[in-house]
Amino acid sequence: MNSILRWAGSKRKLLNVLQNRAPVSFGKYYEPFAGSAALYFKLQPKHAVLGDINPEIISMYRAVKSSPREVLDYIESIPTTKEGYLTVRALEPKNLSENQRAARLIFIMKACFNGVYRTNRAGAFNVPLGSRFYRLPSKEEIDEASRVLSNTVLRLGDYSKALDGAEAGDFVYLDPPYSDGNRFRGEYSYDGAFSVDDRDRFLKTCADLTTKKVKILVSFKLEESFITKLKGWNVQKLDVPRSVAGFASSRVAAAEIIATNY
Ligand SMILES: C[S@@+](CC[C@H](N)C(=O)[O-])C[C@H]1O[C@@H](n2cnc3c(N)ncnc32)[C@H](O)[C@@H]1O
Repeated sequence: MNSILRWAGSKRKLLNVLQNRAPVSFGKYYEPFAGSAALYFKLQPKHAVLGDINPEIISMYRAVKSSPREVLDYIESIPTTKEGYLTVRALEPKNLSENQRAARLIFIMKACFNGVYRTNRAGAFNVPLGSRFYRLPSKEEIDEASRVLSNTVLRLGDYSKALDGAEAGDFVYLDPPYSDGNRFRGEYSYDGAFSVDDRDRFLKTCADLTTKKVKILVSFKLEESFITKLKGWNVQKLDVPRSVAGFASSRVAAAEIIATNY
């Protein structure tokens, strides 16, 4: 199945390649940079952990897991008009119930420019309306998402927290942010570029998990300095059409890699 969330950094276009590179068998599935969790919804693992540092994403999965129909009712109550979008966009998530909050995220992502999640420094979502309203999830799709999520643990926070407990034979898919960080001053995105320090910590996490015999699949941008640090890994280079930093005007075929430690 497809994810119910529209997300600029989604790996939807790479799904077949990723699925082919996933291990044939594994214990638990971990996706600590979940976003729209495209690979998770494709694989539908029996036991899984999804994590993300963006509270809107994790609270949306919590609501869909426990109350899919209530979330859908809220989604369907929002007018698919510019006024509807601006009104819902202006709502403060903290003042909403978890179900309303989930409906707001699913709706604004289906309607916003290029499916980009971006806020101002005060944390207010400020992406303008896009060129059209993408199709909202159906009753069947939201029920299916809820069913897939039923045995999944949801963890809000840094990826290290989501990886707690990963052990030999488990499968971890790591898809960290790697946009070029090209954004307007005063804006913030959870998908901002990983700094050099972030990369070192990320590589240390990969090394620790490899020692524990955890199977890892990483997607990242093609960067020789990064690849040389993945000694002994299987690295595949790919050209993926994507919109850099979410702007259609800078759509390019970004060179990416997928790498496995198995
Ligand atoms: C490239 S997107 C993942 C896309 C995902 N694979 C999909 O199919 O939609 C990266 C995600 O990592 C999250 N993120 C950024 N920094 C993080 C961190 N330190 N720990 C956990 N999640 C983080 C972002 O909020 C974003 O949802």
